Amino acid sequence: MSIDVRPSTDAGKYLATDHLVWFGEVSDNDAEAMRLGLPEDQRFVADLPDGPEHLHAGIYGVRPMELALPGGALVPVAGLTWVGVHPDSRRQGVLSAMMRDHLARTRDAGTALSALHASEPGIYGRFGYGMAALHLQVSLGRGTTFTAPHLEEEARALTTQLVDMAAPGVTERMRACQLACASERPGTIVGSPGFFSLMAFEPAEALRDKEPRRVLFARRGGVDVGYVGLRREHKWEQARPSGTVTAGMVTGSPAARLALARRLVDVDLMGSTKLESIAVDDPLVDWVGGPRGTGELHTWDSTWVRLVDLGAAWSQRGYEHDCDVVVEVEDRHAPWNAGRWRLTASAGSGAAVRTDDAADVGLDVAVLGSGFLGHSIGGRLRAGLVREYRRGAYAELAGAMRTLVEPEPSIGF
Ligand SMILES: CC(C)(COP(=O)(O)OP(=O)(O)OC[C@H]1O[C@@H](n2cnc3c(N)ncnc32)[C@H](O)[C@@H]1OP(=O)(O)O)[C@@H](O)C(=O)NCCC(=O)NCCS
Repeated sequence: MSIDVRPSTDAGKYLATDHLVWFGEVSDNDAEAMRLGLPEDQRFVADLPDGPEHLHAGIYGVRPMELALPGGALVPVAGLTWVGVHPDSRRQGVLSAMMRDHLARTRDAGTALSALHASEPGIYGRFGYGMAALHLQVSLGRGTTFTAPHLEEEARALTTQLVDMAAPGVTERMRACQLACASERPGTIVGSPGFFSLMAFEPAEALRDKEPRRVLFARRGGVDVGYVGLRREHKWEQARPSGTVTAGMVTGSPAARLALARRLVDVDLMGSTKLESIAVDDPLVDWVGGPRGTGELHTWDSTWVRLVDLGAAWSQRGYEHDCDVVVEVEDRHAPWNAGRWRLTASAGSGAAVRTDDAADVGLDVAVLGSGFLGHSIGGRLRAGLVREYRRGAYAELAGAMRTLVEPEPSIGF
């Protein structure tokens, strides 16, 4: 069946298709305000010959973002978002056509990587995306104690400041701070200025009884060195205040995070604090004495990464160990990646070159995406998801890709 995928020319129709797919409350806010951070030339639609009359069969969008890689490079990444298929057009290949379109456009634009957050875990692996960063969702009781003796001196030199996210200049401060910290935290995704404005744009129907988002900054000598976005929610139980502080991604050095965490568990009228997204080996878990020092702890998938242009992507990141492995790559949706590559890492730098040599390892391109931010992928062989032709070759490859600390999760986009 012919599926026509092309740039969107009708903002209202694009938004109406999204509303049907995501069944949220329809806003009176104009279509442009709702699409801050999604440039006009990065909205795409798909139509079927006998598709829905007044809506598109499918839509997707791309946020141009930057991704911090192991080794410290901050590189462009296509942030895939707004993916939706009309309920009457589903399972007819519309998403598949949109994914092929996205991968070809991204490669033509010279961007080597695509990343996303998945609504359902079964969707994107088949399109070559790998689960590249996990995150923890952690609850902490009021007054939780954090023990980090070697950070105390540095943390004492910091102050904290609570401001409204929508106040003038605040999202600019957040972005500047995240950019300054990103290279220390592989996995960090930095959005465009428009994307940061979108976070502070909360129409009345999105708020209802919630308070608008606030930001807590950590500062040293008047300079921002970290921040966390948060919202408080009132609750009274047996006449006692027992509200929840819900906090988003935490940005900053370990000492800044410590200062922010201490302030987050000491907010008046609150009973608990929920940190929605921290790395799986985040120091916070050590500071409270391990998982049982938290109230609740859940693990979910955060960023999914896709090597759109394998050859270019491999040399963008740094490597903590050397490797020299011939990999037979399967890639149904980006055939330019498929086939045999010699993947090397030496003195921290990587090179990917085409080869006719015999393969040491056979894998789907999604496996390389899973390990691209440094997340351990050693277990994939044991799980039967990788074929090894030369004994020890996969350990060599996975060991080179792995980093000392787990990748930072990324904010939902
Ligand atoms: C997810 C969604 C975009 C899929 O679109 P679609 O046009 O039906 O997908 P396709 O017909 O191209 O399916 C491609 C393949 O993916 C599979 N697939 C699609 N959605 C899936 C899901 N949710 N879980 C598991 N597999 C899925 C299909 O079975 C098909 O498999 P096959 O190639 O083996 O036949 C669509 O169901 C949707 O709009 N869902 C609600 C919004 C959403 O979740 N968007 C994703 C945002 S991250």
